[in-house]
Amino acid sequence: IADVKGGASEGLEWLGKELAIRGWVRTCRVQSSVTFIEVNDGSCLSNMQCVMTPDAEGHDQVELGTVTTGASVLVEGVVVSSQGAKQKVELKVARLVMIGKCDPLTYPIQKKRASREFLRSIAHLRPRTNTFGSVTRVRNALAYATHKFFQENGFVWISSPIITASDCEGAGEQFCVTTLMSNAHESNDCPISTIPTTKDGKVDWSQDFFGKPAFLTVSGQLNAETYASSLSDVYTFGPTFRAENSNTSRHLAEFWMIEPELAFADLNDDMACATAYLQYVVKFVLENCKEDMDFFNTWIEKGIIDRLNNVAEKNFVQLTYSDAIELLLRAKRKFDFPVKWGLDLQSEHERYITEIAFGGRPVIIRDYPKEIKAFYMRQNDDGKTVAAMDLLVPRVGELIGGSQREERLDYLEARLDELNLNKENYWWYLDLRRFGSVPHAGFGLGFERLVQFATGIENIRDAIPFPRTPGSAEF
Ligand code: 4AD
Ligand code: MG
Repeated sequence: IADVKGGASEGLEWLGKELAIRGWVRTCRVQSSVTFIEVNDGSCLSNMQCVMTPDAEGHDQVELGTVTTGASVLVEGVVVSSQGAKQKVELKVARLVMIGKCDPLTYPIQKKRASREFLRSIAHLRPRTNTFGSVTRVRNALAYATHKFFQENGFVWISSPIITASDCEGAGEQFCVTTLMSNAHESNDCPISTIPTTKDGKVDWSQDFFGKPAFLTVSGQLNAETYASSLSDVYTFGPTFRAENSNTSRHLAEFWMIEPELAFADLNDDMACATAYLQYVVKFVLENCKEDMDFFNTWIEKGIIDRLNNVAEKNFVQLTYSDAIELLLRAKRKFDFPVKWGLDLQSEHERYITEIAFGGRPVIIRDYPKEIKAFYMRQNDDGKTVAAMDLLVPRVGELIGGSQREERLDYLEARLDELNLNKENYWWYLDLRRFGSVPHAGFGLGFERLVQFATGIENIRDAIPFPRTPGSAEF
């Protein structure tokens, strides 16, 4: 259907051609002498209007009443010009084959719009709605554009491991991976009594699969750094996991992250890369997903196209964390969370900065206090701040978090000591600083937050096919 209707002439160049469509019935309107069947095959938002008269093969299905919303069909016919106002062409049906019937009494997707919350409870069927069809296609385009951007700029894609023993962010938000409890699911017995313990009563991890505690990764950054220390610019694009118990509209327990790592680069290079990347992918969807973007502009977030055009063209605002604190202290608004140098910015502060103070433009905040940032960030000369940056966008808040990495062995070791982290666990990471260390920098972008930003969809649970959140791992 996209092939036919996606062209500049909206299908006119197909007039007189024969066509076969396989898809799902969206609606079926039976009139006395003719039946209108809207079929969608997921290739685009548009349906194909199929017009069927009683002489067509398979019309008995119409008479039997099986051509209902949700049924899968094959329709063959000829493309003709349409009298309807909504489309230039339609299909005059010669043959209809019922592939899979769909009981109209129990099919949960009906014509009237269902709430997003309800659709989450039927995540296996929600891709059949317009909204989720469009979100899925735009998500796909963003992924394609991501690889295209990095590949065209000489980055090498790295698969970082999903299971790891290290905690990149040091925030203790990891999911543990263990075979010690692998039978619990089947027997439903509490396996605690069977978990092997050492003499002093601790879990004996040496008897577990990996011989030590292992976790789902929270970030592929440390692994990306190892490859950037050899192949120069690299990037990861894969799933990451966080067991943070935050039931918000921008947190998932399983999300995809894009993590470029730039060799021989500092924080300014990092911010320039983040800006160029974001502008590239935004332009890409504006140019390549016009129909879906128009849909979002009308139904999900009015004005999103103008907003994204602005993002693609204008420079982003840059300010230091210290200036951001000053700005918040001068704000006329009262915040729920305290504003004070040394405290992390909360979502309400971030949104105030991009949405109110800078009128909807993306804002990059840099040079955060080292106490609120991860151990690997490069210390600035003031001794108090690190070369970190967060990129904030309206509605979503933090879209990107990145930094220049501490490439000096002595500084990094001192920082690990300060944080009471065991240097031995980081032996391979420290090796990178021992053997041909280079200044390097990178960032992580939460892919679902990008999907939210580019589609206007309010809740991150609707930006990924099967959301994983506290209390929810169905499907
Ligand atoms: O700011 P974060 O924690 O940074 C890192 O993980 C670095 N290691 C990245 C790097 O420098 N290579 O996470 C990066 C981004 C955030 O800005 C946010 O967009 C997203 O990941 N993110 C989440 N997205 C959805 N659900 C969550 N629970 C997320 N936590 C972080
Ligand atoms: Mg962050």
